[in-house]
Amino acid sequence: MAKPALRVERNGPIGWMIFDNPARRNAINEDMWRAIPPAMAGFDADPEVRCVVLRGAGSVAFAAGADISEFEKRRANANTAGEHDNIIDAAQLALEDSAKPVLAMIQGYCLGGGVEIALACDLRYAGASSSFAIPAARLGIGYGVHGTNRLVASVGHAAAREIMLTGRRYSADEALSMGLVNRVLPDAELEAYVREIASMLAANAPLSMAASKAIINGVIEASGDFSKGQELIARCARSEDHVEGRRAFMEKRAPKFKGK
Ligand code: COA
Repeated sequence: MAKPALRVERNGPIGWMIFDNPARRNAINEDMWRAIPPAMAGFDADPEVRCVVLRGAGSVAFAAGADISEFEKRRANANTAGEHDNIIDAAQLALEDSAKPVLAMIQGYCLGGGVEIALACDLRYAGASSSFAIPAARLGIGYGVHGTNRLVASVGHAAAREIMLTGRRYSADEALSMGLVNRVLPDAELEAYVREIASMLAANAPLSMAASKAIINGVIEASGDFSKGQELIARCARSEDHVEGRRAFMEKRAPKFKGK
């Protein structure tokens, strides 16, 4: 079986990043998160690349979140969990801070960290059979402040509260009606549509798009005070429930949470 990896490809003016871990539904492991900033820096430095598309390998999943099998080691205590969160934040910021437009092409499962990375993209297009969830509350983890902030900015606080508090699964149509994705296409038409939009962006004025992107990002960032949230995320990372959540997932059983 091929090693999980972030595959980086270029096709004309379009750069591609592909989450390639099909045995785990394209779950993003730490090496893959770490590979995103240098991949984006490579595209940023290449004037021939005019836009970037993220996708999962195959059609079963965009990404089923962060790789939970690494949590025992990588999120063993609040320090390592903080480090792990910083690596995930750096990956998102690399996409957000790039001057180039970034698209998420979403087929199949888009869960947890998969939603987080999709929200750090400028545009999200989904296949009709894709599904979405942020099951942080089912794992005992505190979802990142930047991801949560972008979620609220995209879907509003009412839908964001339901998504975060229930951790439940949503269909592509529900995601569209909440504003989580820009458009839903029949599965068979998604890739052609994304290539068409990417070609449209590739022909647009890069400096104009960079200005719009920076202004919109500035508006979203300015609305948040993250200090209390950061503290509460760290409390989750120190909790017994955090250990229980990841063990329950690996042991394929329902977690028993105690609130400590
Ligand atoms: N991290 C690590 N492993 C994962 C994973 C993740 N995020 N998502 C799936 N896997 C693994 C499963 O443990 C399973 O491994 P196994 O073959 O060794 O048993 C394999 O991928 C296939 O998953 P399975 O659950 O059997 O497939 P499915 O098609 O029935 O369900 C999902 C797919 C994505 C709905 C389900 O795997 C799931 O809910 N994943 C976790 C999602 C999650 O909580 N993400 C948030 C993380 S921040």
